[in-house]
Order: sequence, then structure tokens, then C-alpha cells
Amino acid sequence: MSNDSTSTILAVTQDSDLRMVLERALKRDRAYRLSIVSTGREALSRLESHDVDLVICDSDGAGDQKSVLLAKVRLSHPRLPRVIVASQRSLGEADKLARDSAAYLFLTKPVVVSQVKLAVKRALELTELSRRHRIVTRELHLSVDDDLFDENRRLSVSGGISKFERLVYASPKMADVVSKAKTAATTEMPVLITGETGTGKELLAKAIHFNSDRADSPLHIQNCGGIDETTLRAELFGHLAGAIPGIAAERLGLFRAADGGTVFLDEISEVSMTFQAALLRLLQEGEVKPVGSDEVYHADVRIIAATNKPLDEMVARGEFRKDLYYRLNGFSLTIPPLRERREDVSALAEFFLEKYAGVIGRRVLGFTSEVLAILSRHRFPGNVRELENEVQRMVAVAEQGGYISERHLSPELEKLRFAETLPQGLEITGGTLKEMVEEMEARIVESTLARHQWNQTQAAQDLGLSRVGLANKIKRYGLAEKAL
Ligand SMILES: Nc1ncnc2c1ncn2[C@@H]1O[C@H](COP(=O)(O)OP(=O)(O)O)[C@@H](O)[C@H]1O
Ligand SMILES: [Mg+2]
Repeated sequence: MSNDSTSTILAVTQDSDLRMVLERALKRDRAYRLSIVSTGREALSRLESHDVDLVICDSDGAGDQKSVLLAKVRLSHPRLPRVIVASQRSLGEADKLARDSAAYLFLTKPVVVSQVKLAVKRALELTELSRRHRIVTRELHLSVDDDLFDENRRLSVSGGISKFERLVYASPKMADVVSKAKTAATTEMPVLITGETGTGKELLAKAIHFNSDRADSPLHIQNCGGIDETTLRAELFGHLAGAIPGIAAERLGLFRAADGGTVFLDEISEVSMTFQAALLRLLQEGEVKPVGSDEVYHADVRIIAATNKPLDEMVARGEFRKDLYYRLNGFSLTIPPLRERREDVSALAEFFLEKYAGVIGRRVLGFTSEVLAILSRHRFPGNVRELENEVQRMVAVAEQGGYISERHLSPELEKLRFAETLPQGLEITGGTLKEMVEEMEARIVESTLARHQWNQTQAAQDLGLSRVGLANKIKRYGLAEKAL
């Protein structure tokens, strides 16, 4: 693709009438860049050196170089739409050409300006639509692509980037988690997923469900945090008519609704002791007792629970039932925070770039290496969710057909631009460790101040110091604003 919003159209013809029509149709339109050559050979060299979005090939003249050209293009640029133009007397040849080259469209001479305009517009739309379609399909239907589950082929998926359902990763740590998750998927055991917020716990739970024997049965998701005890119990275990004030109708409850399937319980650390007892009965006996009911029902559900608090510590402090913890912990999966698996950052960034560019229909070519470097330095307290939001934002402000560069970064990440320049030129040698550390500290404080034009409030905030703390350091190191 060309590196701006114009599309490049390469036409191969020796017919001066056709040339004229093409020029009239496309030359003045700033959306297109038209390049006309007269032989198949010229066309090939043009394709090698330029990004071309569409090929228009006249089947008349210059012998069978055309079929060579089109056959080559079909292999080298499979997604490039090919339009064949033929005169009445060469229809037979052109027909064969169109088939051999899997042409998108076949026009017969004499062609008129509006016909060319429309054909070109539609062909380019097709390319864009199929590009978006590929992204969407990849997101929704990865499980269809059984290749992806073949361990031997895993590394061959676009340069070390792997997928488990919608989970994208490149790090050995995630590969380890995914391999355990795949094993968990083949069993009926409960699964406990631990990880900071935004690390992909819910995505992993879904991947496990959709790779288990229960995939054709429902998966229900319930967040157990920030919801009151009665509502939560009614939601999951159901209730009789009138058992809950204000709710007249009877409710089945998610556990029974998901019979044969899976229930994902997010933020399991937040549930009360009463709830824990009820959940334990479900796990041990498959029993479900609706709120306000004396009757006991049975449900065959698999539980996948997630927590961002360490449950084992809560058990040790007596805040979570030990027996329930052991039950839930049939399989224990821990997703490391993003900052502990930096290899995933660029893989995820590229994935989200394609996703959001597709969503808003913008052509974004990629990230500059500076941006990728900054992203891989950031600590991402909000983990993958934060990275996803950041990329979504950057795609929204990027220019059509351009790269995402440092000026598209959010102010928070932009700060890290300068962090990069610090270690360079920092040749601190000789002296004790304490002296070298102080020297380094002095330079960091100084460069932070310089960055904020010596606004001490802002610099202190950046450095995580109080105003007084910063003033002390300035004094101690004898720092002063340098005249420019
Ligand atoms: N490995 C991953 N690949 C692709 N998207 C991911 C990955 N991990 C997280 N995400 C995305 O990040 C966001 C947060 O993930 P989520 O599963 O809700 O995290 P958690 O449940 O741990 O808070 C979601 O939009 C999810 O699609
Ligand atoms: Mg979540």
C-alpha cells in the first residue's frame, strides 16, 4: 500500500484509446495515483519497486507476457485485485487469462470513463473489506483454525506470535500458562485464575470453556465484586417468586441456567462466608438451593473462578474458607503482570493496532520503533487493558496511511520519551557505589527539572517526591537552572 491515502493503480496497455479513458477516469482524482506501462516486464519491475493497490491489464498486444505477469502477480501479491480489459476479437484469450489469473473483473472494450471509475472504486473497496474481514475472522473464529492448537506449528504463526482463542502472546511465561490452560480444558476440574486486573483472566476463562467438552453449552459470567450478598445469591442460585423484595417473578439462577456448561466467577475473593458455604455445596454435591426455597436442585456446572487478590493469603488470615479454596484450586493458573512479560507488549500492540484500525476503517501502517521502545519500558499498572486503551487512542489520532509515532502517545507515556535519553552518556565510573548512585540521582533530578522548565511542582510529581524533598535534593546537589 502506498504510504498516504492515495491508492496506486498500475495499468498495462499499449492501446492509446484505453490509456486516454484511464487517464480521464483516474488522473485528476487525488484519491488515485495512476501509472501506465506498456509491457508485462515493465509492470513486474514496477510491482517490485512500488506499492500497488490495483492492476488493470489489457489483454491485447505484447503477446503472452501478460499471462506471465498475471500468473506471477497472483502468487506474489495474492490480495491485489486484478482487472482484465479485452477487445471483442481477443475475448477467447482474455477469458482464459481472467481464469488463470483469478481476475476480479473483466471489462470489454470500448470501456467508458464512468465504468472505469466504478470498477476501480469497487475493487479497492473489496480489498479493504477483505482486510477487515480477515481481522474479524481472526478474532471470532480462531478455534476454527485447528492449526493454531498444533504445538509444532505454534512458533510459525506470524513470527513467534501465538494465540489461544483470542489470547495473543509471545512470551515463554504466557506459553506456559496457555499450555496449562489447554490441559485444564480437557478436564472437568474447577480452575482458579490469579492475576492483576487487566491481565486477561476473563479471556483465558473463555478460552478454557471454548476448548472444553462443554463448549456447546452455555458459559455464564458473574462478577462477584461490588454486588450485594442477596442479589449475588439470587443471581447465581435463583430465587422463588416473592423471595426478594421488589422482584415478583421466580428466577432460575445462572447455575441452573448453565447446566452442562461453565460459570465464570470473577473477583471470587469478594464473596461472603454464607455464599462460600453455598458454593462449596455446589462444588461438592452439585446442589443448588434457590433463595427462599427449601427444595434442592442439581446442576452440572464447571466453575472457573478468578481473583486479583492472593486467595492463599486470605485463607491463611481466615478470610476465605480453606476447604472451598482447595476445591476451586483444581487447576491453578497465574497470569503474570504485563511488565513481567515484555515480549508480549509489541505482539499485543500490533494486534490491537490492526483491530482498532479495522474497526474505524483507518489505514495505519504500524508503530515507529521509538514508540515500541517506549511501550516496552512502561510499567502498565493496568496491564493489557491499559495497553489496549492506549493503542486504541493512538489509532484514533493517527493520520490515515501513516505510522504511529511519539507525538501520538498519551501524555503519561510521552514522559517516557525522555527517560530513554538518561542512561546514554551516563558514564559513571570510579567512586563508591554510593557516590555513583548519587551522581546518577543528581542527573535524573536535573534532567527532570529541565524537562519541566524548572517547574518544581511538576518535577516533584514526576519523580514521586514532595516539594520539600525535591528542594532538599536541589540544594544537596547544588543544582541550578542553566541559562540557555
Ligand atoms: N493476551 C491477550 N491477548 C489479547 N487481548 C488481551 C489479552 N489479555 C488481555 N486482553 C484484553 O485486555 C482486556 C482485559 O482483559 P480481561 O480478560 O478482561 O482481564 P481481567 O479479567 O484479568 O481483568 C480485554 O479487552 C481483553 O480482550
Ligand atoms: Mg476482568
